[in-house]
Amino acid sequence: MERERWKSQLGFLLAAVGSAIGLGNIWRFSYMAYSYGGGAFLIPYLTALFTAGIPLLILEFGVGHERIGSAPLAYAKIRKNWEWLGWWAVTFVMFGIELYYVVIIGWCVNFFLLSFNLGWGNDPNTFFFKEFLQLSGTPAEVGMIRTPIFLAVAAVWFANWAIVYRGVAGGIEAANRIFMPLLFLLTLVMVGWALTLDGAREGLAAYLKPDFSKISKPKVWIDAYSQIFFTLSLGFGIMIAYASYLPRKADIVRNSFLTAFINSGYSLVAGTAVFAVLGFMAKSEGKAVADVVSQSIGLAFVAYPKALSIMPAGNLFGAIFFLCLVVAGISSSVSIIEAFTAAMIDKFGLPRKPFITVVAIIGFCGSVIFTTEAGLYWLDIVDHFLTHYGLVVVGIAECVLVGWFFRLDVLRRHLNRISSLQLGPWWNFCIRYFVPLVLGVILAGDLYNEVTKAYGDYSWTALILIGRDWVLLTLIAAFFIASRPWRTNHLATKGRAES
Ligand code: PHE
Repeated sequence: MERERWKSQLGFLLAAVGSAIGLGNIWRFSYMAYSYGGGAFLIPYLTALFTAGIPLLILEFGVGHERIGSAPLAYAKIRKNWEWLGWWAVTFVMFGIELYYVVIIGWCVNFFLLSFNLGWGNDPNTFFFKEFLQLSGTPAEVGMIRTPIFLAVAAVWFANWAIVYRGVAGGIEAANRIFMPLLFLLTLVMVGWALTLDGAREGLAAYLKPDFSKISKPKVWIDAYSQIFFTLSLGFGIMIAYASYLPRKADIVRNSFLTAFINSGYSLVAGTAVFAVLGFMAKSEGKAVADVVSQSIGLAFVAYPKALSIMPAGNLFGAIFFLCLVVAGISSSVSIIEAFTAAMIDKFGLPRKPFITVVAIIGFCGSVIFTTEAGLYWLDIVDHFLTHYGLVVVGIAECVLVGWFFRLDVLRRHLNRISSLQLGPWWNFCIRYFVPLVLGVILAGDLYNEVTKAYGDYSWTALILIGRDWVLLTLIAAFFIASRPWRTNHLATKGRAES
């Protein structure tokens, strides 16, 4: 079987950017910047970008391109007994992160539709938690499936299926060629509009005014590294699979820098729209910006709807905002499905179309638990465990594998031969020592917090049964799949640097 190919390097870049730009860029970055010293936060953020984000992105692109394979195949070609690592990444991402990520996109679809007549009424907080989610008391009280969420999730799964079904060039590349320009255009309209609002200036001041005293705290630096890691979709196995579809000649280093810059630039710009609107709301309510901000879902589903209700033509603005979230979300969620699919095709030689159909159906069934009245709790717990432990462990392990068990210089030479920007030995240093060290510190801190205090005031039972076991089950599944025999002969083919 011929390996699929991107039609062009621009298509590859757009797909990588599509994966990187997701919900996290819109609601996570801006809040972080705001609470961690405004403009001064750029110092830890950019440091993390250059010392960990870009080196690791180059590593993932490089490994996928040089080994010509999805994460499990690429790792198995380096060391056969590290295949499980690739499987673990693509399994907990596909049967963990993806399942609830699609549900959040489903909420956004609902709010997109609600925008037109500001359907959340005049108390968006009560509306979101009591009427829309009908949130129960504890994770164990699952209650009923929320029909509007369920229907939207079905639609989002259908869209994901329809895109990945058409393949790498015909589906993912083609979709991102529409999605990315559309997202940039909508975002610019939103930013331009937001800046004309009364109070925008105060909002921007709160967002960007540098406060250098904040960045002396270690927590700010640790969170900056975590954010960079998540926002570039590192440790998901996605970038490895995407780069494996590139032709022999591909400017990996330049594309890594471009992906990283476009992704961070987008976060920065989207943040101005977020804070201009919050500034406007603060001013109209006679409050300080500090009293109206909130993070993640509170921002998108409570604070923003509140502002939209008092903004002239707020319904149109709201529709644009939620459409941006949907587009940014879908271009990320398809990348997860592709990372898993690529791995299964590589190992078992399965035909794409029937396989994708089965995956989408199973995925949809798995998402259902997150559409119940306890959905938000489940989502919160699973997200906490998978992003804190799954992604970070994979990140450390891939640095160790590639940095210590693979000839890093061979990989660097390979990249330098095909790239316009030349990688210096600093890159080896980052991969071998610096990135694993930073991620190790993050992991140790996370583990310490985990055992000293129950996350989010949930019961230990819920945390263990839902969170820890989700991590363990996907790990067991990974070892199981890795133990199965290869049905293709990909493992026998050499890497590009050797052939
Ligand atoms: N980079 C994405 C974000 O910031 C993270 C992500 C990637 C999430 C792929 C899901 C799928 O939202």
